[in-house]
Amino acid sequence: MEKPIYFVQDKFVEKKNAFIHVNDIGLLRGFAVFDYFKTYFGEPFHLTDHIQRLFRSADLVGLKIHHSQNEISKIVYKLIEKNNFSESSIRIVVTGGVGTDSRSPGIPTLIIYCDPRNELDNKFYTTGVKIKSVQDIRDIPLAKTINYTHAIKYLSEFIPKGFFEVLYVFNDLILECTSSNIFIIKNNRLITPKGNLLSGITRNLILSICSPEFEAEEREVTFTEVLAADESFITSTDKEVLPVVAIDDNQIGNGKIGTGTELIMKKFRSYVDSKVWSKST
Ligand code: PDD
Repeated sequence: MEKPIYFVQDKFVEKKNAFIHVNDIGLLRGFAVFDYFKTYFGEPFHLTDHIQRLFRSADLVGLKIHHSQNEISKIVYKLIEKNNFSESSIRIVVTGGVGTDSRSPGIPTLIIYCDPRNELDNKFYTTGVKIKSVQDIRDIPLAKTINYTHAIKYLSEFIPKGFFEVLYVFNDLILECTSSNIFIIKNNRLITPKGNLLSGITRNLILSICSPEFEAEEREVTFTEVLAADESFITSTDKEVLPVVAIDDNQIGNGKIGTGTELIMKKFRSYVDSKVWSKST
């Protein structure tokens, strides 16, 4: 079989033959959820956490996944084996399927993509990035639905203007970025917003490995507080820990990558390299 090999509904297929029905309600109405993760040392990183979040997202929108968590996990391992990339990026999408009309779901469609791992240019980690704030909030923020319409609109506008990510601010509280969570460091406290956002696997991992150097706070964070932060960074599966040196036209701290962020980046790397997460997560 020619690679990449994907899994669609109940079989492994070559990417060029991977199709779903044009009447799928995922396409017609955006009724679908997904999750995304990658491998390190050939092993899917925190696979159980990602699969559990996929099921939570499905529950939140009322989509019933017909495969079990264990079945999905086995397919993921099979796909990694079949593709045999040195490292993989994996995306699991579950759509509502084809219903009797354009408003009703049918049997859910399961799609699992497996591609060579996506790598971000190293320059972003050495210089840090600028992010742009907008007044917005994701629809069903606790769920990872496929609806990134606003995200794509904002990124198309602001990436050409030199911004790397877009930060959602709602009622003066910062939430998350289009595809990342955000942290600030103030007086050696590591602070991240809580509520109305996706519970990022990377975010939660950082909270669990940041002690004893930092005291962590998960709480409401105002936009004003972010601008007065000593340091800031964003986290996600694809970006890992990425320093933020400016928001809009405001420099964060001294406008350079801070020592706290450097330490968190190192701690994340040591955690990955330790492989303590392997098989058990
Ligand atoms: N997105 N918030 C949103 C809205 C996201 O889309 C993501 C990840 C995160 C960070 O979650 P995690 O640490 O579990 O990757 C937060 C992935 C990378 C995507 O869009 O494919």
